[in-house]
Amino acid sequence: MNYEQIIQLALERGFYFPSCEIYSDAQAGFWEYGPSGVGLKNKFVELWRRELVRRDRMLEIDGSQIMSQSVFIASGHLSSFADPIVTCKKCKSIFRADKLIMEFTSIVVPESADLAEFDKVISEKRVACPKCKGELDQVRRFNMMFKVGVGPESEPAYLRPETCQSIFADFPRLFKTMRGKLPIGIAQIGKSFRNEISPRQSLLRLREFYQAEIEIFCNPNKLDDLEKFSEVENTEIRLMVGNEIKKMTCKEALESKILPNRLVGYYLGLLVEFYQKTGIDTNKSRFRKLDDKEKAFYATTAFDFEVETTIGWLELVACNYRSDYDLKSHANLSKEKFEVIDDDAKILPHVFELSMGIDRSLYTILEHCIRDDKENERVVLSLKPYLAPIHVGILSLVKKDGLAEKTEEIFSRMRTRFDAFLDHSGAIGRRYRRLDEVGAPFAVTVDHQTLQDDTVTVRSRDSMSQERVKVSELDSHIAKATGYP
Ligand code: GLY
Repeated sequence: MNYEQIIQLALERGFYFPSCEIYSDAQAGFWEYGPSGVGLKNKFVELWRRELVRRDRMLEIDGSQIMSQSVFIASGHLSSFADPIVTCKKCKSIFRADKLIMEFTSIVVPESADLAEFDKVISEKRVACPKCKGELDQVRRFNMMFKVGVGPESEPAYLRPETCQSIFADFPRLFKTMRGKLPIGIAQIGKSFRNEISPRQSLLRLREFYQAEIEIFCNPNKLDDLEKFSEVENTEIRLMVGNEIKKMTCKEALESKILPNRLVGYYLGLLVEFYQKTGIDTNKSRFRKLDDKEKAFYATTAFDFEVETTIGWLELVACNYRSDYDLKSHANLSKEKFEVIDDDAKILPHVFELSMGIDRSLYTILEHCIRDDKENERVVLSLKPYLAPIHVGILSLVKKDGLAEKTEEIFSRMRTRFDAFLDHSGAIGRRYRRLDEVGAPFAVTVDHQTLQDDTVTVRSRDSMSQERVKVSELDSHIAKATGYP
């Protein structure tokens, strides 16, 4: 099913919808998660914690979203986190200069190029406003950070454009108080903010979005010493080699020097193992090494983890080797000490990061898990049971004859352990369909036989098969089927 159908499902079944939609001045690029979306997101985050943070014994923090100007002077975002934009002199529309040039002429001018280079192509190729054909003004830079004024004096500060800056700024304290030892991962989930010029496609290009970031602090002289690489050496990953995607184990990718070292290989392997558990089809994934023009300003080597969808390849995770760029800059500006002792030597750690976009990952899970089951005239969201916003629907076949009371009694028991949903109203077939569309793996139906022998019908979402289960065994039946593998 395609992007439009996913949006329709998202709107109708409470996954996500535009923010402030009742007002005409609602801004693009802001979306809200409804109850089904929150359920899915929370479970995705829990899986991330389990498969990455806990598995690798990382530390997790929760930093401020508004951070002081100094942080972004040091990080380089104040000077470098800016897109080239161009305004139409006639209709005043604003465009990303690199994208406009690309669409108009197919010429690639890297976003980091000198402004004069953009102006030259615009003039030589007579690039005009796509809306009114008007003449374009000179290209300028637009910083994508949201500036805020703190307190009555409006001290300048910024909404963070990436969560990881607090991990870097907090590193000396965290390493000391948590008695750190390299290599060590520090992780954070939270919102980041970017004043995108053209936000679009709902969850795919937002101005306010969720990131799950992991920063691995390591000794740059020991990138090949990582023993735990053996845990993932046989994990298969897909890598762009030239113009082709090659499937290989992490070990093969390392031996053929497509991956630079065991540390990078280990975390890329871990990442693929994580995504396999989300229900995303990793046979439609690839790691793509970015060239110098595409890399972020802080990265020395970068691989994007991308997944194919009906609207093209989506970047879900940026895997950046940031070297000592951030720690060195924060050390210089703050005068704090960022070096640590590793094997009796004083070193400034390097950083490798896995910067995951949660919203895009959730969209991709929906797209890869949804099925139009025409034979049974239903749309079914075959989420992994442990990611389903609702684990089990509890339905009464009819409301009368004491069935409603019995259904509520069973619901009260189940809801303490599971995300259960009580539904008495409407035809039973329609209630099953609604549960199929939010991905509930089970529906329990209470009928007249329940009053006789204390059994219920358990219907499975994917096979639509039904079985009779004793009420006393319902908990363990659902727990077994919805738990982690
Ligand atoms: N921390 C990397 C990014 O936000 O893309």
